[in-house]
Amino acid sequence: MGYKVAVVGATGNVGREMLDILAERAFPADEVVALASRRSQGQEVSFGDKILKVKALDAYDFSDTDICLMSAGGETSKEWSPRIGAMGCVVIDNSSAFRYDSDVPLIVPEVNADAIVGFTKRNIIANPNCSTAQLVVALKPLHDAATIKRVVISTYQSVSGAGKEAMDELFNQTRAVFTAGEIRQGKFTKRIAFNVIPHIDVFMEDGYTKEEWKLVAETKKMLDPKIKLTATAVRVPVFIGHAEAVNVEFERPLSPEKATEILRAAPGILVIDKREDGGYMTPHEAAGEDATYISRIREDATVENGLNFWCVSDNLRKGAALNTVQIAEVLINRKLLNRARQAA
Ligand SMILES: NC(=O)c1ccc[n+]([C@@H]2O[C@H](COP(=O)([O-])OP(=O)(O)OC[C@H]3O[C@@H](n4cnc5c(N)ncnc54)[C@H](OP(=O)(O)O)[C@@H]3O)[C@@H](O)[C@H]2O)c1
Repeated sequence: MGYKVAVVGATGNVGREMLDILAERAFPADEVVALASRRSQGQEVSFGDKILKVKALDAYDFSDTDICLMSAGGETSKEWSPRIGAMGCVVIDNSSAFRYDSDVPLIVPEVNADAIVGFTKRNIIANPNCSTAQLVVALKPLHDAATIKRVVISTYQSVSGAGKEAMDELFNQTRAVFTAGEIRQGKFTKRIAFNVIPHIDVFMEDGYTKEEWKLVAETKKMLDPKIKLTATAVRVPVFIGHAEAVNVEFERPLSPEKATEILRAAPGILVIDKREDGGYMTPHEAAGEDATYISRIREDATVENGLNFWCVSDNLRKGAALNTVQIAEVLINRKLLNRARQAA
């Protein structure tokens, strides 16, 4: 028997990617329903070789839907996810609305798939922030091998991480620079074309941004609360693909050669590290791909047991839509969906 799956936010960057990934991976769905706001009602979106007509979320009845892949922002999720879960439909949510709740599992299947069983408390599972997803995929096998003490990370995040309007803003500003047109700002606080902005999400009292805080809180929740982590999150004028420069201190020695061997064997990772011109991965090349790519693995000789590496992934895929679909696959492969109806 196949499942009935609803994609909420189907007209957005992540929602459209979810539909592509469900089709690519031949997800066992009998029916896929595309939902968005009333603004998009009747709009068409593609799903494999089919076209789906978008329906309005607030007019849809979830009572016979098994899984809801939610990617419509935090406010919409806060309003709808608990109601949908209460109807026995499992919500896998891409927003930050429930990520830090102790009764909602936060899952990256390569890292903590076993934690998924806690979903029956609310029928909600959270997907991490895009920059955290690729980071924990890389850190998990290294943590298992040599126990991470501290991580210092700087991110180089593409504009698609801020939604479809942000991509239009980069495009329009870039065109305006070349045509001497007016540079209009909307989503970003400074010009993003030919610039970098050290500010993602809102500022917190301690001077960090919420994006930096999320990297810390989510890594601790999924990997190990004992890991110390400090972050600087930066927006760069790239359309798709987040890059991260990562510095790690371990409890025990771990050579670059051994780390390379471990990362090569780890799920979801491809190591491209030739120590020559072009022998590393960039966001442009990672766009449209599923893997988390690791390059530039080298010793940090300024600390005991230190390593540096470069980590790149498609933020719309592993950072959002792919991870969400992988979580849905864990639910199905472990035969957990019947527990959702019992819990409702
Ligand atoms: N982009 C990333 O890398 C990334 C990574 C991880 C998590 N996320 C999270 O995923 C979510 C979506 O991100 P995105 O980049 O896809 O944004 P987006 O391109 O701006 O798309 C937003 C989607 O949400 C829908 N929506 C907005 N308000 C709604 C409402 N009241 N009812 C129903 N649908 C509504 C929109 O529908 P309309 O077209 O009808 O307005 C659209 O389909 C956000 O929570 C974001 O934080 C994004």
